Amino acid sequence: MKLIIAIIQPHRLEDVLKELDKAEIHLKTVSNVLGCGRQKGRTEVYRGRKETGNLLKKVRIEIAVNEGFVRPTIDAVMRGAKTGNIGDGKIFITDLAECIRIRTEERGEVAIG
Ligand SMILES: Nc1ncnc2c1ncn2[C@@H]1O[C@H](COP(=O)(O)OP(=O)(O)OP(=O)(O)O)[C@@H](O)[C@H]1O
Ligand SMILES: [Mg+2]
Repeated sequence: MKLIIAIIQPHRLEDVLKELDKAEIHLKTVSNVLGCGRQKGRTEVYRGRKETGNLLKKVRIEIAVNEGFVRPTIDAVMRGAKTGNIGDGKIFITDLAECIRIRTEERGEVAIG
């Protein structure tokens, strides 16, 4: 099991969600976050408006998947989020030790999807 965390440009969210749906990846958590990349917020301007200080508005998508869905999830995020411009975002992938569906107490791979 892996936890995939994608930090993307807010204006790419709709396309990323479409690509995830197409790949039959439906379970996710989405948050609005503030972030700072290697330009330290200096050169990135979205619609002519900079955010406060070094922090720019980003969207964070978390998706927990079984091994077979790791590649399709990454590919879907890439298709939806990549413009080729700075600030397109990053994808972090970590091993996921456990997942528990609270209602049924199922654990592990059956609890993920
Ligand atoms: N090393 C990191 N640790 C935690 N969050 C990060 C890290 N790198 C990037 N992020 C998050 O991802 C967001 C987007 O990063 P961004 O795409 O600007 O990366 P970058 O390394 O600056 O690449 P680029 O040169 O393409 O802009 C940041 O605003 C921040 O929220
Ligand atoms: Mg950057």
